[in-house]
Order: sequence, then C-alpha cells, then structure tokens
Amino acid sequence: MLALSDAGPPLLNRQRERTVLDGLLEDVRAGRGRALMLRGEAGVGKSALLRHTLEAAAGMRVVRAAGVESEMELAYAGLHLLVAPLLDGLEGLPGPQRDALGVAFGLRQGNPPDRFMVGLAVLTLLAEAAEERALLCVVDDTQWLDRSSAQVLAFVARRLLAEPVGIVFAAREPGREFQGLAELEVRGLAGPDAHTLLRSVIRFPLDDRIKERILAETNGNPLALLELPRGLSA
Ligand SMILES: Nc1ncnc2c1ncn2[C@@H]1O[C@H](COP(=O)(O)OP(=O)(O)OP(=O)(O)O)[C@@H](O)[C@H]1O
Ligand SMILES: [Mg+2]
Repeated sequence: MLALSDAGPPLLNRQRERTVLDGLLEDVRAGRGRALMLRGEAGVGKSALLRHTLEAAAGMRVVRAAGVESEMELAYAGLHLLVAPLLDGLEGLPGPQRDALGVAFGLRQGNPPDRFMVGLAVLTLLAEAAEERALLCVVDDTQWLDRSSAQVLAFVARRLLAEPVGIVFAAREPGREFQGLAELEVRGLAGPDAHTLLRSVIRFPLDDRIKERILAETNGNPLALLELPRGLSA
C-alpha cells in the first residue's frame, strides 16, 4: 500500500511514466479532467509512481485512499476513505444526491442508495471541491476496493470532462469496473537501471553469473531486486 508519509527513495528511470503523469497533472491544472489506471504486477513500482505524482502535485488539493483487503466486503468503505475530507460539501449537494451519499456513508437513514445517484453525488462533490484549487485523487491498490466503491469511482472517472479533477488509480489487475479507462502499464526496470538497483543493495562483489541470473529472474521487478539478494553473502 502507498505509505502516505513516506517520501521513499528516488526513482530510477521511469521517464516515460513520469512524462505521462506530469502531463496528466498539467491537464488537470488547466481544467481538463483526466483519469488514469497504473497497472502492473506486485512490486513493479506503482505505489512509487503514485508517490511521485503526489510530489509533483504541488499547489493542488489532494485526497487519497487505498483498497484494503480486509474491507472488501464493506460497501463504500474505500470511497469513504477517499472523500471523507470533502464531506463538508455534503449539505450543498442537490437533495437526491445528498441523501444517496449520506445513506451510503451511514450519516442518514434510508434504503440502500442507487449507485448511479451515489456516483453523481461524488462527481458533484469533487467538482465543488475543485472550484478553488485543482483536485487530485489518488487511489492505490484498487484490486482491493469493495465493489460499490470501485463502481462509483470508475463511473466518476469516466465523467471527468471539464472539471479540474484528476484521478490516478493503481492496481495489480484492475477489476472489470475500470474497463475502458486509460491505462499505463508499469513494467520492470530495464537492464542498466535494474543493475544499479541491485548494486545498491549488495555490499560485496557478486559473481557475474549470479548477478545475471538475478537480473534475469527478477525481470527488472524493483521489489524482487531489493528482496532477492537479502539472503546472499559473499
Ligand atoms: N523506479 C524505481 N527505482 C527504485 N526503486 C523503486 C522503483 N520503483 C519501485 N521501487 C522500489 O521497489 C519497491 C516496490 O515498489 P512499489 O511498492 O511501488 O510496488 P507496487 O507496484 O506498488 O507493488 P504492490 O502491487 O505490491 O503494491 C519499493 O521499495 C520501491 O521503493
Ligand atoms: Mg503498491
């Protein structure tokens, strides 16, 4: 999960990904809503890229959340994490939207709300929050979002047109809900960068054959490169 306070080590490479993410922020600042799904296997560096995005979002308002595996059965738990800081705006929503979101979050009594209405409510809430300053939403580990939250966030992401609102998601394998969103596939580091990362964790000379084998087996996956040599000694 994205460690929210952790600045993390500097990223090796990732020029292509950073260019895409910086372009997204530029669009959002200019009032063109954008959504993007970072997709890639465990340990490949999605959260690290989200951290870069947060750092690059200076001057924007930021809200963030992550899917939590143990909360997957709790309807709207993930959405609640994301928009709780914006709930001051709840009372200003049109009645049906206010009621739907209020019931979804247990702030009001009522029948289980229509997800369409919850989606509209979140869209309005984000647009209102972005009136003063462009808004960036960052949602990590979306593979662990509860289904209601995933549906609502995907609905919102597809409708960010002329609002200064951006949403960047990350997932190992995005759920069906997110089909059709722009995706950026995150892959392992290329040879020289994988090499640099490996060298940064090995404090002794390493046989070239073993080094090559580690590089081949990890396929440039940064987490694997950091973890695999742990048990090795000279
Ligand atoms: N470009 C990079 N340069 C150096 N280190 C990196 C890079 N990308 C990721 N790392 C490091 O690799 C480890 C795994 O990265 P990260 O946590 O971002 O993976 P992830 O894709 O979010 O995985 P998961 O699906 O398990 O959440 C972290 O320690 C991170 O700091
Ligand atoms: Mg992660």
